[in-house]
Amino acid sequence: MTCQGKVSINDTSGAEAGADMGAEVRAALAGDPPSLPCKYFYDDRGSRLFQEITRLPEYYQTRTEESVLERVADEVVAAVGARELVELGSGSGRKIRLLLDAMARAGHLERCVLFDINERDLEQSVRALGRDYPQARVRGVVGDFTQGFAGVGPGGGRIAALFGGTIGNLHPRDVPAFLARVADLLEEGDGFLVGIDLVKDKRVLEAAYNDAAGVTARFNRNILQVMNDRLGADFDPSAFDHVAFYDEQNAWIEMRLRARRAQGVRIPGAGVDLRLAPGDEIRTEISCKYSRASLEAKLPGTGLRLGQWHADQANRFALALLVRDPEARR
Ligand code: AVJ
Repeated sequence: MTCQGKVSINDTSGAEAGADMGAEVRAALAGDPPSLPCKYFYDDRGSRLFQEITRLPEYYQTRTEESVLERVADEVVAAVGARELVELGSGSGRKIRLLLDAMARAGHLERCVLFDINERDLEQSVRALGRDYPQARVRGVVGDFTQGFAGVGPGGGRIAALFGGTIGNLHPRDVPAFLARVADLLEEGDGFLVGIDLVKDKRVLEAAYNDAAGVTARFNRNILQVMNDRLGADFDPSAFDHVAFYDEQNAWIEMRLRARRAQGVRIPGAGVDLRLAPGDEIRTEISCKYSRASLEAKLPGTGLRLGQWHADQANRFALALLVRDPEARR
């Protein structure tokens, strides 16, 4: 815990999260298909590569979401009467500022909580936002949002936000339970603003994950470097091809790493020895795409109802404002 005036960082993930990594990686590699948890993309290098992805011509998500948010931020903030913003994720982007600006314009920006897995990113964002929004108390909480929200505390006049289409990383079957946990952070009338990448032409989707400059390929292979750094593995990232395709049945983009040749890989920190044949694949990410209807189908029983739906003209990306409604629980 570091404290600087109104700015603080609280690490609730602790050392045990590091010890869990080996077991988690081991379980994921034993799955069908073998996989690696996509949260491990985001070491410092991976976070930088992702920032680069958001500026690629093929990667329409980030700029589309920002333009929608620019248009609707005041309307969203007004509907919730938001005094506190809780962002699940980096806090480094323009989007959180668009919301904070709208809250400041409405005259009741009081608190901001950033919840993120990368402590360095978090520290930087907390400091920058604390400086630029002196009227707000800015707090950072380190954690993995798939594991719950220890350290965030109770709400009231709160708007939670998850931008970027990150909800797409959850398996569709896990979405209702996740939404119910977010609902637990909220009081009646509070909101959850969530960015949704929409189902669309397969070619557009696949281009966004197979960019011409090869940044996504580097981002994908970087997860092997993270395994080397943190688990003492001996992956040779250059021995893997980047693969990304749209699975229409599941409505998700799937990223994989495909072994270019036969190889053995030792991962001491996970207690795993991998034998890979040429063409063997490891899944590194799913990124689910939704429609308004398929998102709404996830809401019953969660305590959230659809309050507002804002998509861009071309229906590429949407911001859904989900509203805490006790009547909507079970
Ligand atoms: C950060 C999960 C929204 O799924 O589009 C970008 C991550 N992966 N390119 C996405 C990602 C490959 C991104 N999310």
